[in-house]
Amino acid sequence: MAQASFEKVYHGFHAATMDATDLTHSNGYGIIEDAAIAVARGNIVWIGKAIDLPVHSAPTSYLGGGWVTPGLIDCHTHLVFGGDRATEYEMRLQGASYEDIAKTGGGIVSTVTDTRKASEAELFASAKKRLRALMSDGVTCVEVKSGYGLDLVTETKMLTVARQLGNELPVTVRTTCLAAHALPPEYKEQADAYINLVCERILPSIAQAGLADAVDGFCEGIAFSVEQIERVFQTAQALGLPVKLHAEQLSDLGGSGLAAKYNALSSDHLEYLSDADAVAIAKAGTVAVILPGAFFCLKETKLPPIARLRELGVAMAVASDANPGSAPVLSLRLMMSMACTLFGLTPLEALQGVTIHGAKALGLGDSHGQLKQGFAADFVCWDINKPAELCYWLGGQLVKHRAVAGEIT
Ligand code: NIG
Ligand code: FE
Repeated sequence: MAQASFEKVYHGFHAATMDATDLTHSNGYGIIEDAAIAVARGNIVWIGKAIDLPVHSAPTSYLGGGWVTPGLIDCHTHLVFGGDRATEYEMRLQGASYEDIAKTGGGIVSTVTDTRKASEAELFASAKKRLRALMSDGVTCVEVKSGYGLDLVTETKMLTVARQLGNELPVTVRTTCLAAHALPPEYKEQADAYINLVCERILPSIAQAGLADAVDGFCEGIAFSVEQIERVFQTAQALGLPVKLHAEQLSDLGGSGLAAKYNALSSDHLEYLSDADAVAIAKAGTVAVILPGAFFCLKETKLPPIARLRELGVAMAVASDANPGSAPVLSLRLMMSMACTLFGLTPLEALQGVTIHGAKALGLGDSHGQLKQGFAADFVCWDINKPAELCYWLGGQLVKHRAVAGEIT
């Protein structure tokens, strides 16, 4: 009998494949009990019940029980930055608001000062520690934004560091240029002039260097208007880069409507999302990325309209938003738990949010976030008895094995 050309075979676990063609089956987890996965050239070439494995001569690894899921995808982070903002955290605990701190020169702009000062090596070393923490809790793919440079040199430095993280660590890194994150101090009262710089200098140069996979902006009273972000989106479109947006985090400016108009990969935060814009992102197929860490840390009380998004069939992703200000978060699993407890997602929706839907929010829906033939062999074997435990336990070490491109790391 002809032998299948597998490079490696894993068995000894149950699998939650999150296979999109199988969303209604086995409670949507795409469960395969007593499963096996065969890999070759970094991809899954066969998955099914171990008993049905074709004849092969590849080395076999027994994973010793537990559940295997796709590797977790954190589709929204600001992992590269200088300094920290623990002092602002203490100020907020004393009653200062995030917006007050931003208006008096703190907030994002204070991280900009520290990030401009830091060398590439310093930014790499600090981001690597944070990324290692996310990886040890099951992340195999992460998005990293710029946005603490706000000038060409520092935005380039941040994105270079982000690319370097992906080259040196066993994790897939997608980069996003977030030059339209805040107004740099040298452009005080000149937001339109800064947007000119972003559109005429920063984005073309970053795109030319191949440093960004997408373009993002912050549409908010303390950041940029819909009109200003639209110019950024038009530039991104002309450069052939997909867009995403920080929208409706603190107020409703209609950013998600704009995101939908530009077929954004995702619209993120969404606490103040209007019904009209929920309908718009549903029609556009834009992913709603919910960020319970920022909601929690800023003691926000307005909930994103989860039930309405669910009713409209909007894909909901869950991410860490790891950043020094609104979300110093180093565990994506904790975000899954908060998405359930604070926002009312089910554990299944939370897992979809960090697998199949997280992949879609990064434009990787055809290659990541599901365990199926032809997809990346990125998976985690968890020390749990049922998938809901991924949301149930706060903290702890649940990862038994973590594989990227078919190799246990
Ligand atoms: O996603 N909302 C804007 N940007 C970040 C916060 C960045 C910061 O405070 O440093 C966010 O929450
Ligand atoms: Fe963010």
